[in-house]
Amino acid sequence: MSTMKVVILWMSYFFVLWNTVWCVTRYSIPEEMERGSVVANLAADLGLDISGLAQREVKLDIFHSTKYLDVNKKTGELTVVEKIDRESLCTTKTTTCFLKLDLIIESPLRIFNIELGITDINDNAPHFRRDKIELDVLESASPGERFSLPNAFDPDVGANTVKTYKLSESDHFNVDIHSGSDGTKYVDLVLTKELDREEKAVHNLILTAIDGGVPARTGTASIIVRVQDTNDNAPQFEQAVYSLNISENSPAGTLVIKLNATDADEGSNAELTYSFTLYTSEKTQEMFSLNPNTGEIAAKGTIDYEDMKIFEMFVEAKDNSPIPLAGQCRVTVYVKDMNDNYPEIAIKSLRNTVEENIPVGSVIALVAVSDRDTGDNGKVNLKMNMLLPFFLNKSSDYLYELLVSKPLDREMVPEYEITLVVTDRGNPPLSDNETITVNLLDVNDNAPRFPQTFYTIPVMENNAPGALLSSLTAIDPDLHENQYLVYFIIEKEILNTSISMLFSINPENGNLYALKTFDYEIEKEFLFHIEARDSGVPPLSSNVTVHIIIMDQNDNTPVIVSPWRAHGSVVEEKIPRSTDKGTLIA
Ligand SMILES: *[C@@H]1O[C@H](CO)[C@@H](O)[C@H](O)[C@H]1NC(C)=O
Ligand SMILES: *[C@@H]1O[C@H](CO)[C@@H](O)[C@H](O)[C@H]1NC(C)=O
Ligand SMILES: *[C@@H]1O[C@H](CO)[C@@H](O)[C@H](O)[C@H]1NC(C)=O
Ligand SMILES: *[C@@H]1O[C@H](CO)[C@@H](O)[C@H](O)[C@H]1NC(C)=O
Ligand SMILES: *[C@@H]1O[C@H](CO)[C@@H](O)[C@H](O)[C@H]1NC(C)=O
Ligand SMILES: *[C@@H]1O[C@H](CO)[C@@H](O)[C@H](O)[C@H]1NC(C)=O
Repeated sequence: MSTMKVVILWMSYFFVLWNTVWCVTRYSIPEEMERGSVVANLAADLGLDISGLAQREVKLDIFHSTKYLDVNKKTGELTVVEKIDRESLCTTKTTTCFLKLDLIIESPLRIFNIELGITDINDNAPHFRRDKIELDVLESASPGERFSLPNAFDPDVGANTVKTYKLSESDHFNVDIHSGSDGTKYVDLVLTKELDREEKAVHNLILTAIDGGVPARTGTASIIVRVQDTNDNAPQFEQAVYSLNISENSPAGTLVIKLNATDADEGSNAELTYSFTLYTSEKTQEMFSLNPNTGEIAAKGTIDYEDMKIFEMFVEAKDNSPIPLAGQCRVTVYVKDMNDNYPEIAIKSLRNTVEENIPVGSVIALVAVSDRDTGDNGKVNLKMNMLLPFFLNKSSDYLYELLVSKPLDREMVPEYEITLVVTDRGNPPLSDNETITVNLLDVNDNAPRFPQTFYTIPVMENNAPGALLSSLTAIDPDLHENQYLVYFIIEKEILNTSISMLFSINPENGNLYALKTFDYEIEKEFLFHIEARDSGVPPLSSNVTVHIIIMDQNDNTPVIVSPWRAHGSVVEEKIPRSTDKGTLIA
């Protein structure tokens, strides 16, 4: 079989060569003709007798190819039996594509060479090998930069192949088309405007390849342009200046603020590190910590308003790019005063012993008050805790005078404990107190005083001389010599006799004595004064009236004195006879 085929092939070839010289019948048909389409009437064209053809053996030999065509023996028509695809028939990209066939008619043998030109129709659309093209473009790429794109492929030829490309609407990109020496159209993506990743990180484009057929066919590929970040954005804080308050005594670790800078870039270009700049004082850095990763500022030590009232921090956020960019902000922390300091009292001067007769309005003490807090927390008020004969006169915000407001009397209150209470106006208020003691010195301001103003002393007559009659005691509330009393009888004459001849008084204790024996029948009473005098300078004294009453005893025998008669004789009385009844006789 195979040997025979080879022989036939060889023979056919021989005739083709031979026939070409003489006669090649040429036809041209478009590709893709429908099955059954008539290409030509070979009988008519080759001058064959149709009636005789039916008895003869007719064979159509197609070189190196599928049996696309056949000959109708009855009509002599060359018809399409299978669609001819030019592109699969002629793989080379030539404009001309032939199908060579021999019409072999036996008895007698005749061979006709037929050349069937297959013309291209636009039956293929341009096609991209990949329908998704991904491109990474640096954000910093400058306009004019080109990026090669894979070209589309269209198996058609001539005008039916790729003619041009189109790019979907884009503000940043364009396409530039150029032809290769073989007419292939190449396409470049051209950057027309600077990119900004922060504005648009991915550009989705559609590239359309269009062939020159009528109607034109197209093929598309999507182009995804990913913009690669460059560090073109500096970190930025929301505010340039942050002002905030913190209460003093906030414990270590208290969060003050969480700074949050943002960087529009991405990746390490947007990773931020926070730090204090050199403008931030050492002292402030000792008091506050800054977390480099989170931007949290926290108190490190206990914050004392009395130590520092305002802290200023200068913070920088820097991105982690090899060529970093930085942003700055200022944080001002105002420390709020808390009422954490007790007010204080300082006694600047004090007269702690004064004479009781000190004049009203005299200054006893000078008192200074203070409070380290500020505002109301530092405003203080000084008071006494009870009503005393003293008065606080404010001479300045922080100085008071303690004055005597009423006359003092040592005999009533010898010593004052004055508690001064200082209170601030904080909430809650704090207070402190200080007690001062003022001692009063005695002044001889009290005269001795007898319990009674008048003493009546009864004395039996015939008393023994030197007998104690009574004890007169005066009282003096003063102290010491102002209290030491001396008693004496105020001199007076009675019946040409000095009173001091009759009575005596012990000067020290006021014991009153009779100096002689009294006789009721001679003197019945005595009236005199006794004075008590203290030893003050000058001395004070007072006196009392003493009334001595002599009391009678039955020490005398009765005697008839009238009518007189001689001692031991009888009294005789002579009366007339006519004396009436009731007449006085003696
Ligand atoms: C800080 O305190 C002041 C006065 O008390 C007040 O006027 C201001 O609004 C406060 N600031 C903040 C951020 O709370
Ligand atoms: C920082 O601020 C940005 C924008 O305001 C916000 O999206 C982000 O969550 C914030 N980050 C933190 C840690 O607060
Ligand atoms: C209180 O002090 C002021 C000034 O220091 C003075 O003018 C005033 O007289 C004083 N008042 C009394 C009651 O001493
Ligand atoms: C004085 O202060 C002490 C403690 O400092 C306190 O116990 C006392 O109650 C205070 N006295 C007055 C009268 O405020
Ligand atoms: C008192 O003495 C005076 C003279 O010194 C005398 O004249 C008088 O009579 C006397 N009186 C009595 C009561 O003794
Ligand atoms: C006795 O005291 C009163 C005043 O208390 C005085 O007037 C009088 O003179 C005094 N008498 C004598 C004798 O000193």
